[in-house]
Amino acid sequence: TVLVVDFGAQYAQLIARRVREARVYSEIVPSTMPVAEILAKRPKAIILSGGPSSVYAEGAPALSREIFEAGVPVLGICYGFQIMAQALGGTVANTGGREYGRTPLTVTRPGSTLFEGTPEEQPVWMSHGDACSAAPEGFVVTAATEGAPVAAFECDEKQLYGVQYHPEVLHSSYGQQVLEHFLYRGAGLEPTWTTHNVVEEQIAAIREQVGDKRVICGLSGGVDSAVAAALVQRAVGSQLTCVFVDHGLLRKGEAEQVEKDFVAATGVQLKVVDAQKRFLDALAGKTEPEEKRKIIGREFIRVFEQAASEVVADAGAHGEAVDFLVQGTLYPDVVESGGGTGTANIKSHHNVGGLPEDLQFRLVEPLRKLFKDEVRKVGEELGLPSEIVWRQPFPGPGLGIRIIGEVTRDRLDLLREADAIAREELTVAGLDRDIWQCPVVLLADVRSVGVQGDGRTYGHPVVLRPVSSEDAMTADWSRLPYDVLAKISTRITNEVPEVNRVVLDVTSKPPGTIEWE
Ligand code: XMP
Repeated sequence: TVLVVDFGAQYAQLIARRVREARVYSEIVPSTMPVAEILAKRPKAIILSGGPSSVYAEGAPALSREIFEAGVPVLGICYGFQIMAQALGGTVANTGGREYGRTPLTVTRPGSTLFEGTPEEQPVWMSHGDACSAAPEGFVVTAATEGAPVAAFECDEKQLYGVQYHPEVLHSSYGQQVLEHFLYRGAGLEPTWTTHNVVEEQIAAIREQVGDKRVICGLSGGVDSAVAAALVQRAVGSQLTCVFVDHGLLRKGEAEQVEKDFVAATGVQLKVVDAQKRFLDALAGKTEPEEKRKIIGREFIRVFEQAASEVVADAGAHGEAVDFLVQGTLYPDVVESGGGTGTANIKSHHNVGGLPEDLQFRLVEPLRKLFKDEVRKVGEELGLPSEIVWRQPFPGPGLGIRIIGEVTRDRLDLLREADAIAREELTVAGLDRDIWQCPVVLLADVRSVGVQGDGRTYGHPVVLRPVSSEDAMTADWSRLPYDVLAKISTRITNEVPEVNRVVLDVTSKPPGTIEWE
């Protein structure tokens, strides 16, 4: 394992991902972890991340210099680089030469461990106020920029390396290569961490945890729960029962994907609960967004609990207990909740699969160590249908929060058709992986006048909301090609009766959220 010590900047996760892209397994630890504890994890190498502070600032996160004396290869990045410089006797000072953004870097020792085979001039991403003006004794300065006379230093003998810039961001054109040079040449690691190994490892871990007990898993139709379930199925086969609550708020074809394609691909035992009427009844007459969300969340929990207790009773009749619940928790959730304690970490209104604590199951979380893109690779490795593996994010409350106004069966059907057309055309245009997602929203309480054939129409508008984003926290509206928009508009107004107008949402987030409710 390579440990990435997180100094509180947003870059630690990115560094960990880049290391994994180099096929070396990595994990993140907080900088508050005592060095002895970090070393007790027996890391093969350590990377110190960037951070927001100046090494001279009061309360700046520090690191005991023992970390550099344990014989473990270390790469310091940005703040981590400065900490390293300072701890080992170099000079870090506020030189006034603040650099931010894309900066030209000159490699002063071509052929060094970090820079071999990369150009002598290369663009890098800088973000610093202080700069290192003298490298520690025994270190060779291997690169410089205008504002940072020591932009990289290396000591092969001690296997210690540092760079002032951020090699993990794409703006540093040779950053990945430099990281890989550290891992392979500096630390002598082999690129052996593959999706295949992850699958093998997780299957062994699940078998070990679950033993001969029974397991239950709720499927949402999304990629995380599907991949988690498929892994558990591989590990313990018929001990797993999946429950799929069909609340009627999924998009066209999605329920079938779960019930037919997913089952065919994995062979899981699936209990389907058709709760469409129950959800519609509960939503009747409701128009306030938060109220709709709460109703959907509440009903989901009730239906799932009921189904789970039936599965438990069923097992009981055969003298068996259901001890475990599968949850598709991902690594970023684990990191953000401070390393995780093995208990459920459920974002209250953002995860309809969230269950109350009085359901006494122990959790199986086979995706706890994975990033989203790795989950998709595992899904592919397990042979899941690509419609599920590459599905765009879809909110737990589903189409219920994409109908502005009361949710009814007719309106759901209408929105499902319009949404299916938009998705189809985006796929045909090859835009699926360019956009983050494209909600289609029905303004059910709005009508406008139109003309079709020879007649006047008085129908509803739908809104297209294509967005680009990295993480859904912020987003920009996607500049889709006009001809694709035109095709979607023509087809929706022709093929979906009741819809006579298609409009485009050109709001970024903030101020608009991605979903309309
Ligand atoms: P907003 O609308 O908050 O959405 O900008 C950000 C991202 O989260 C998705 N979303 C949800 N996902 N349960 C979920 O699992 C929810 O209740 C929920 N609400 C919004 C949304 O589709 C977007 O990707």
